[in-house]
Amino acid sequence: MKKIVITRNINPDIIAKLRKDFEVAVWEEDQKPMPRGKFLEETKDAHAVLTMLSDKIDEEFLANAPDLKIVANLAVGFDNIDLEAAHRHEVVITNTPDVLTETTAELAFTMMLVSARKVLEANKELMAGEWSGWSPYHMAGTDVFGKTVGIFGMGSIGAAFARRLSGFKSNILYHNRSESEAANALGAKLVSFEELLRESDFVLCAAPLTEETKHKFDREAFEQMKESAHFINIGRGAHVVEDDLAEAIKSGKIAGAALDVFENEPIGADHPFIGLDNMTLLPHIGSASVATRNNMMNLCVNNIMEVLNGGTPITPVK
Ligand code: GLV
Ligand code: GLV
Repeated sequence: MKKIVITRNINPDIIAKLRKDFEVAVWEEDQKPMPRGKFLEETKDAHAVLTMLSDKIDEEFLANAPDLKIVANLAVGFDNIDLEAAHRHEVVITNTPDVLTETTAELAFTMMLVSARKVLEANKELMAGEWSGWSPYHMAGTDVFGKTVGIFGMGSIGAAFARRLSGFKSNILYHNRSESEAANALGAKLVSFEELLRESDFVLCAAPLTEETKHKFDREAFEQMKESAHFINIGRGAHVVEDDLAEAIKSGKIAGAALDVFENEPIGADHPFIGLDNMTLLPHIGSASVATRNNMMNLCVNNIMEVLNGGTPITPVK
């Protein structure tokens, strides 16, 4: 019987259909990744692995699993995977595009509004019993309506975010490797990275993490942004030089940041962002609606069934 290893305790109803034809080993601990040693041990004789973005798929792992046919990654991003090594070992890699687009764009939009209107700060004050009454500038933030919004990375999520801006009469700029028809149809304008930084009141990072985009948001980038600007990141933590962003916030180089991703997750109390004002920090929940997570799991399971049954993967990463 072919063996499938699942590195997190995902919905048992969704994996039930795998159990009919395959041996399925599931790592049952919910919030802790499968330790590396255990992962290598479990997958030695595996034919398929359903992985999380916290699992590293590299040469060591692939060389250790000679029967492996597919790695189905429960994420749209795949920067945890060495694609060249997978190709050498003839292992199919799949991700979960499309099913999470609207959900992730929705969180990005939420983050922008929350940051602009000091929602968390206001809530924190009230919950602490420290609201002393209405006054004209109390918790007065900035409007999103009518502003310039710059989107770095105009893929499906960037375009879904841009579509939501139409009700806000925004001036939309974007920076991308190539022109996006979806973005152009919304009246968005392709600009250089520098122009995006200089002109935008809100800058959203929605790009995949690559060698080109890594650490793109550094001191120099934050210095080019408006002092009134907010930076929102739903891509990957490593798009940002985190110490530089902490410094930009502390020195008022930019007005606020809303982040759903960090270079080394999870971050703890000793991280430079902790305790800073004007920062909205979320624990990587971009695609976390129940329906979307279920759709992502189903897509992983269907990709695995296709490949192990000799078919073609539904959403291969090329
Ligand atoms: C989440 O970050 C994803 O890549 O799906
Ligand atoms: C605020 O509540 C207002 O009425 O302006």
